[in-house]
Amino acid sequence: MRLSIIELEDVSFHSDEKSILENISFNVEKGDFISIIGSSGSGKSTLLKLIGHLISPTDGHIRINEKDIYEYDPVELRKDISYCFQIPSLFGDKVRENIEFPYYIRNLKLDNKRVDELFSMFQMDMDILNQDIKSISGGERQRIALIRSLLFKPEVLLLDEITSALDEKNTRIVEDIIATLNGEGITILWVTHNLEQSRKYANKLLTVEKGKIKSMEVLR
Ligand SMILES: Nc1ncnc2c1ncn2[C@@H]1O[C@H](COP(=O)(O)OP(=O)(O)O)[C@@H](O)[C@H]1O
Ligand SMILES: [Mg+2]
Repeated sequence: MRLSIIELEDVSFHSDEKSILENISFNVEKGDFISIIGSSGSGKSTLLKLIGHLISPTDGHIRINEKDIYEYDPVELRKDISYCFQIPSLFGDKVRENIEFPYYIRNLKLDNKRVDELFSMFQMDMDILNQDIKSISGGERQRIALIRSLLFKPEVLLLDEITSALDEKNTRIVEDIIATLNGEGITILWVTHNLEQSRKYANKLLTVEKGKIKSMEVLR
């Protein structure tokens, strides 16, 4: 039996009387690659935000490695469970600051070898490090945010429509990187609009409809 790394038990999220998620229960096992699909407004992003503890459930329990999510220090939790947004925010003035940040918060020196390795995996030119964050495209922004999340490998990666601004070639590059990371043992939860993408590498397919789980299909 594989270990459940994340457990949701009767999780609901309400905002201003409005029910956004209702009675969500499922387990994520270590090493899972779960694609999450569902129409716009069905609650997919809210679900990822709950698991990343960016917001807290109105009802129910979320456990990470069998411990209630509330018992973790949010800063520490974010090192293990990394959330990548569809429209990521970069900070500072230059792209470089975003790559330096994960080292800075850990009191570590920048690991040039790791940075080189990631830029070559993403087939990105490192000259972008000197660019102003205001001058880069949406697709570049998505990949820089992803590189920032991967400098230190998290246990779980929460991905929210991270290829929405990428062309076909870069989408494929990102898909292959995520599949490789999953092969190395990183657990993946990936919200996507793209049905082909949702079935490509995932072992489970979770469909959300109007704030509820419609189905959890085992793919492989
Ligand atoms: N903090 C919030 N306050 C009010 N409404 C919200 C909040 N977050 C999400 N919603 C609403 O909840 C629903 C689900 O949103 P979301 O999780 O972003 O859906 P999806 O990612 O599937 O498109 C939408 O109707 C959205 O407008
Ligand atoms: Mg969304």
